[in-house]
Amino acid sequence: MNYNTDNFIGVFDSGLGGISVLNNLIKLMPYENYVYYADSNHFPYGKKSKKELVKIGKNIIDRFNRRNAKIVVIACNTMSTSDMPAFNKKFPKLKIIGTYPNFAPMLTPGLVLTNETITYDRDNRIKITRNRKKLLIIATTSTCKSEYLGDLTSNADGFMSVYVEPADFIVHAVENDELESYEFKTRLKEFFKEYMDIDFLLLGCTHFSFAINSMREILGDKVKIQSSGDIAARDCHNYLSNNNLLAKSLSPYIDIVDAKIDEEKMKVYKRLIRIPNGTHEISFFKTFKKVR
Ligand code: DGL
Repeated sequence: MNYNTDNFIGVFDSGLGGISVLNNLIKLMPYENYVYYADSNHFPYGKKSKKELVKIGKNIIDRFNRRNAKIVVIACNTMSTSDMPAFNKKFPKLKIIGTYPNFAPMLTPGLVLTNETITYDRDNRIKITRNRKKLLIIATTSTCKSEYLGDLTSNADGFMSVYVEPADFIVHAVENDELESYEFKTRLKEFFKEYMDIDFLLLGCTHFSFAINSMREILGDKVKIQSSGDIAARDCHNYLSNNNLLAKSLSPYIDIVDAKIDEEKMKVYKRLIRIPNGTHEISFFKTFKKVR
């Protein structure tokens, strides 16, 4: 494979969620060309089996590979936690970066994870209660069931109280452009009702990043919220930089491929994509055939 630095970075998700990762990529690598594939024909990924996901994932990566993508970023936690080794085995020469929920960036040095409270019982005996910090991980149903999340949870279990909840309804609210609706905000409030005392919230789905403001309104400022796109973008940057593959394109492009694109959806894409210096030209396509 001939990897030219100006070859594009392939990015994909089931829909709009991966745009949150694309935004992180653009911020870190503003001179790159991007092809973003929204797999709206298979949307949603969130309740699909590992087998189905691997089949879909291999197909999309294959298309990127045939078009000489210099790297592929799976901007989807559900796909990344399905079976990354299977993707790497199928495409040994192509670098594939996954997007995974990870709580490590929230654990800043000096952070106190356990508080001890002293009380006295009726007989005046001292009682010490250990309160561990609480971490809530939200993701799609498939990610919640994945081996990856099982390992992550047991890891965190050693020093925090960990809760895992599927929240597929947020994915649908993003796709249907309903984040500002009364119905969605009410449902989100209801969802967090029993988690109002959490300390950390880990967003294990790229769609969820677009609902951060509403989550903050409900949970307040004291909760640390971590999404996964920035780590994937950093991994991608490190790889390209270490391999001298960073582009220096002065007129970079973003090609969006979405089988269900129409005027309304284009507006949503344009609202969600953040191009800090207006560097990129955005074009929309229904199929892969016409991308550059
Ligand atoms: N955005 C995807 C993720 O990060 C999946 C959403 C879906 O299709 O269910 O998991």
